[in-house]
Amino acid sequence: MTDRYAVIGNPVAHSKSPQIHAAFARANGDDLDFSLLPAPLDGFRATVAEFRAAGGKGLSVTLPFKLEALEIATSAAERARRAGAANFLRFEGTEILADNTDGAGLVRDLTQNLGIDFRDSRVLVVGAGGGARGIILPLLETGLRALRIVNRTADRAQALALEFASVAGRPALSGGGYAEIAGERYDVVINATSASIAGAVPALPLDIFASGSLAYDLMYAENDTPFMLFASQHGAARTADGLGMLVEQAAESYYLWRGVRPQTAGVLRALRHPA
Ligand code: ATR
Repeated sequence: MTDRYAVIGNPVAHSKSPQIHAAFARANGDDLDFSLLPAPLDGFRATVAEFRAAGGKGLSVTLPFKLEALEIATSAAERARRAGAANFLRFEGTEILADNTDGAGLVRDLTQNLGIDFRDSRVLVVGAGGGARGIILPLLETGLRALRIVNRTADRAQALALEFASVAGRPALSGGGYAEIAGERYDVVINATSASIAGAVPALPLDIFASGSLAYDLMYAENDTPFMLFASQHGAARTADGLGMLVEQAAESYYLWRGVRPQTAGVLRALRHPA
């Protein structure tokens, strides 16, 4: 029988996940069905229960259900617990296993696809909401030189840094407001705010991009995001949007469900340049 998976969200109609997972399955000769699973805002649990009862093996979880996904889990990976959110569920008998593959997807995109060597990198994360929280632990685990979190509301960045600083043996980590980084330069600057959705750019100091730096927006769009344009104008050598992260988090999820790590390069190319 064909194994069933889906992406659950609200809205979910425009999700690229079915296309990505279908491509992975084709390339691996794997028999699976991956569909869209819309759920009412107050109906996440009921929709999941129905999907499980019908034999569903796992779900990819998108907004706004990532917090609830963690809540319904019977066990959760450390990176999901620390992120406070899950984008991955696997059903095994009566168990619901939760994980968060977003941060791993970002790190893989940065290292494998964009050639970042974290050991030499001073990294700046802009934002202290859910998007930022999900990537901090995987970034720290790369062994990067220093990680700074800044946010429009400085307190939130300080609190986030404090929370992750408690993890023993982590590299230099600090959090604060935008003004505090004036005069500092970063090799990788990651926009984890929701500003791009509103066509806005965080009001960062203009001189934060080190020579050779990469500016990365977790968001993706048809065209360069406002943050990518801002970064190019102010000295970033390269910019990237979050499409690579989307494909890589899907690959990590696929691996956790199926035990096989899919190749991503062809899928990413096809998404960037549809035939
Ligand atoms: P998400 O889960 O998408 O991260 P969130 O938890 O609401 O959503 O957090 C949104 C993040 O984007 C926050 O860091 C927010 O900054 P504040 O904490 O100061 O609100 C940031 N953000 C949203 N719009 C922004 C803008 N125009 N400029 C700078 N930061 C912005």
